[in-house]
Amino acid sequence: MGVRILGIESSCDETAAAVVADGREILSSVVASQIDVHRKYGGVVPELASREHLRQIVPVVRKAMAQAGLQLGDLDAIGVTQGPGLVGALLVGITYGKTLAAALGKPLVPVNHLAGHVHAVFLEAHKAARSPKLPAVCLIVSGGHTVLYKVKADQNSCYGDGGVFRYRKLGQTRDDAAGEAYDKVAKLLGLGYPGGPILDRLAAAANGAAAPVKFGPTKTRGNPLDFSFSGLKTAVLYHVKENAEYAAEIRAREEAMGRGERKFEQLLPLCSPRTLGLVREFQNAVVRDLVERTLAAAEELAAASILVSGGVAANSQLRATFGERAKSSGIEVFFPSRALSTDNAAMIAAAAFALFRAGILADTSLNADPSLSLA
Ligand code: KG4
Ligand code: ZN
Repeated sequence: MGVRILGIESSCDETAAAVVADGREILSSVVASQIDVHRKYGGVVPELASREHLRQIVPVVRKAMAQAGLQLGDLDAIGVTQGPGLVGALLVGITYGKTLAAALGKPLVPVNHLAGHVHAVFLEAHKAARSPKLPAVCLIVSGGHTVLYKVKADQNSCYGDGGVFRYRKLGQTRDDAAGEAYDKVAKLLGLGYPGGPILDRLAAAANGAAAPVKFGPTKTRGNPLDFSFSGLKTAVLYHVKENAEYAAEIRAREEAMGRGERKFEQLLPLCSPRTLGLVREFQNAVVRDLVERTLAAAEELAAASILVSGGVAANSQLRATFGERAKSSGIEVFFPSRALSTDNAAMIAAAAFALFRAGILADTSLNADPSLSLA
């Protein structure tokens, strides 16, 4: 059997561990989500996240090893997220990974969380015996990031060998991440946390509901590949404040939420056609912006493929729109499955494999880097 790497991820609000063989075959992947802990605050509370990671890290790693049917001694290396992320959260995974590596006498591989999101796309493609062609443009879009990279193979290796990628940043958000905009809009509409999944489903249920307001394309001065979502979020906020009709249904939804009724089926009847039209229009604006700028980047660079990863990559309208637009522009678009789009440790183990093969290792001085960049 090939190289078996245990990946550990704790950069935000998911404690995750996974075992991946040869950077491609997922032997196990365990994710303990903290959504229930952070929900009542409407976002991730860093101190609570660190405490939850401490509680979860040992059982999550044990479960990942058991699911893979392996003993710790069978591992060839341990890959751990070094950054970017919340410093206290990162430290839990790093300290655990360092201790495990030292105790087992195994190599420790430091992984950039964003490189993990890129590798998630390759992991998924591999399941279908496909391999995205390089150079590619990669959109990483989540609650913490909205950024476009050029991804190419390192000159001295190619992905087929488990090679290392080279990255160049093409653009990024100047304010909120797209997932953050989803979360904030859901909160102000009384739709709970996290906002992405529920807004995604409500937008799909809007059918022909008329948009009560129109949001035009976002203009950004300077780099045309930069994003901005805070203006859109503020536009939704003003629209809701200026139209008193929304207040009663928002209150009704908040009350339902207080009773633990937060399922789509429970919330849909509490949403007027006006609200559904607003949600749909918000999503149209986000999706249009993400797709247009990514396609513009791909065209400018004559990219061979487009990769989309991160929590918002789970969005059904984003996936469908990229699919349609890609077909007409003749460029292939690759998404991870929903499980590999959101934070997980299989992507960390896959990214670690390439670094391990290239001899890029860490020692016990490894520290968390909350603003670690990819390029
Ligand atoms: O990658 P992720 O699990 O964590 C980080 O932020 O790194 O992404 C979580 C984000 C949240 O903001 C959530 O609202 C958003 O991804 N999200 C979605 C969907 N599912 C999750 N946004 C839009 N549509 C979805 N279906
Ligand atoms: Zn992430």
